[in-house]
Amino acid sequence: MSKKTIASLNPSGLRVLVRVDFNVPVENGQITDDRRIREALPTIKSIIDRGGKAILMSHMGRPEGTGFEAEFSLTIAGERLSQLLGKPVAFPNHDCTDAAAAVAAMKNGEVLLLENLRFHKAEKKGDPAFAAKLAAYGDIYVNDAFGTCHRPDASMVAVPKAMAGKPRVCGFLVEKEIKFLSATIANPVKPFIVVLGGAKVSDKLAAVEHLMPKADQIIIGGAMAYTFLAAMGKNVGTSKIESDRIPDATRIIDLDKKMKVEILLPVDHVCSTQFAERSGDIEVFDNEIKDGFMGLDIGPKTQTKFALALRKAKTIVWNGPMGVFEWSPFSQGTQQVAKAIAEATKNGATSIVGGGDSAAAVEKFNLADKMSHVSTGGGASLEMLEGKKFESVELLDNG
Ligand code: 3PG
Repeated sequence: MSKKTIASLNPSGLRVLVRVDFNVPVENGQITDDRRIREALPTIKSIIDRGGKAILMSHMGRPEGTGFEAEFSLTIAGERLSQLLGKPVAFPNHDCTDAAAAVAAMKNGEVLLLENLRFHKAEKKGDPAFAAKLAAYGDIYVNDAFGTCHRPDASMVAVPKAMAGKPRVCGFLVEKEIKFLSATIANPVKPFIVVLGGAKVSDKLAAVEHLMPKADQIIIGGAMAYTFLAAMGKNVGTSKIESDRIPDATRIIDLDKKMKVEILLPVDHVCSTQFAERSGDIEVFDNEIKDGFMGLDIGPKTQTKFALALRKAKTIVWNGPMGVFEWSPFSQGTQQVAKAIAEATKNGATSIVGGGDSAAAVEKFNLADKMSHVSTGGGASLEMLEGKKFESVELLDNG
């Protein structure tokens, strides 16, 4: 069932309480990736351009929950938003529960950002009394915080519950994320290829099992591939494996034989004697990895094999890098896979890149705009690939 969006409401003169996810990375006092703020703009503009008052609320990081902590203040996100909108963003004070007067003073078309919700422990606890204070700020509730949709935090669940009877809709970012990460995958145009990587098999097991019946091929790279190769009895040297997940890897390999899906694993590996960018001896091994070496990227033969498969795909979902792409000697595998996905997209495939590391990789290689969709959610996009439903979305009004 599709959800109503803010487009279906007239916000003129109304107070629209919008849960956004402005949990952006900050280094040395600078936002290093403002995508989550930029992606919230269509919803915010749609409210203020039509004469509504946008009251934004978000968390930032994981503070203690015992009051203001400068390191986790949303001030920096408010400043960036103001630059992007080209207009002031009011920032009442350092307590999100003490903004009633500021909200009451808002004029039509204005934007206000509340301070970090997680300065109150009540946010993580889903506390109804805390939620009631926030709910009192709005005539309409909008969820546009895709990155947080998997969390049952107060602002995601208890606030819209406290606003029962008032319109409760999703924003354009949440609408877009659900369209790609759920609807497209539910009925993928074939061939459908899933590319999974990253460090841990345990993080991706549920996604593999959910997507196996739908996919034609599942490409596995990154450190998680070594657990699969170890399960097949290959020598993986000192590569990082999860020994306790070998039975799961074996079960998935056996399932692959029973189902129509084909699992593609690396056939060569860029290895080093150390987990470091430059200080180890670097060698490429076919198939078996020599003792004393660990795999840190897929090798050139694997890159070609994966790229050939991806070129034929019509729907591609990618979550997790193929190697330690942040270090240049081990970046080629992820870059070549990203390029192959970009090429397939140019030829008509729908490509969906999960958030987190794979989103960072496509940004690094300047390929983000060559993908159909790059998710703003890390944990949320993975849970959606696992087929999970989110209460924060389920409780919104149906379209
Ligand atoms: C994220 O970055 O994944 C979201 O903002 C959720 O943050 P959390 O993992 O701290 O709940």
